[in-house]
Amino acid sequence: MALDFLELKARFVSTFGPADPGIAFGPGRVNIIGEHTDYNGGLVLPFAIDRGVAVAFRPAHGTAVRVVARQYGNEEDTFDVRRVEPGERRWGRYVRGVVRKLEDAGYRVAGACLMVDSDLPVGAGLSSSAALEMATLMAFSAMGGYEVPPTEAARLCQKAEHDFAGVRCGIMDQTVSRMGREDHALLLDCDTMAVAHVPIRLAGHAWLLLDTGVRHELGASEYNRRRAECEAAATLLAPGAEKPSLRRADVGAFADLAAKGRLTPAQVLRVRHVMGENLRVAEMCAALAMGDAAWAGRLLDESHASLRDFYQVSCPELDLMADLCRRRVGCRGARMVGGGFGGSVLALVEESAADSLARDVLSEYSRKAGREGTSIAVRPAGGARLINPPAP
Ligand code: GLA
Repeated sequence: MALDFLELKARFVSTFGPADPGIAFGPGRVNIIGEHTDYNGGLVLPFAIDRGVAVAFRPAHGTAVRVVARQYGNEEDTFDVRRVEPGERRWGRYVRGVVRKLEDAGYRVAGACLMVDSDLPVGAGLSSSAALEMATLMAFSAMGGYEVPPTEAARLCQKAEHDFAGVRCGIMDQTVSRMGREDHALLLDCDTMAVAHVPIRLAGHAWLLLDTGVRHELGASEYNRRRAECEAAATLLAPGAEKPSLRRADVGAFADLAAKGRLTPAQVLRVRHVMGENLRVAEMCAALAMGDAAWAGRLLDESHASLRDFYQVSCPELDLMADLCRRRVGCRGARMVGGGFGGSVLALVEESAADSLARDVLSEYSRKAGREGTSIAVRPAGGARLINPPAP
């Protein structure tokens, strides 16, 4: 389903009354490589996609914000900007969180009518949450007449997710949702927040996303646990650093502490993944610059193995889907993407083979896994934007 902005406007008007709304759009994202490195001060290489969340908006008198979510059967959430708490609805927490964080940062927020729609599957690893946060932020900044600088916007949305949704996520999703660029990946150094737009020169190749259909409730708690394990290891490995993170950890200190038995087996595995994954991001940049699809594919396979064996965030369905892809002619490599324990596999495939490969993999997946998967082709697209301001 593609987003239909005209239809969204018409629905908005029939719900909230005449006068055309403004529309803000926040894209979802796919991460080529650099998984579970962002909150470790590491490197990531995601791209924004041409699907996402649209927020239709119009200022309203007073301090009440009314939000209707079309993708959740037109459920409604209402809150007062003077007292913003997380509230009952899960999706509503992202909207509320952004409003609260804008206000905490000194940006003006006031009453509004919002209607949200999305063409991103939830839980598929495409970061529908960051897309909703970013579209919401763009809507309120348009209504308030200010612009939030991109890095600050990403931080505000990240804080909204920490404090209102309870996931201690990194900064990758929000940054790329704001700063993505057509045909480019975003190389982000999460230690310095330096960004570079990296052209993807893989002629004749396409990115295929294969959703396992598995949605793991363990996702959030295991995510927070991994993060805590890494932070504990970082304080041992980089004790003097101003911001201890695994990015500051040196391989010599790693060996020394491991030899003294001062790291738990789980910590050793987590550090091993993060150090290796940062190197793979750098290597992927080289593969993309040289247009070497075989090399890029091998890195995807290695990343998957590391996430499965060292970081331990895969699940049987993700392993199966990646494996089924790799067996097909035309597939260069495949790996799980996102937080893990479900969601999707990203495969780099020859463009001419993409449709038949997706069909064959999904039919075998359904036979072997006993559940249905789905596939979409994704391509690097632009970041969050105001589609149009509200009618005066
Ligand atoms: C989720 C988080 C990101 C990142 C990935 C794993 O998508 O929101 O910040 O940590 O998991 O790479």
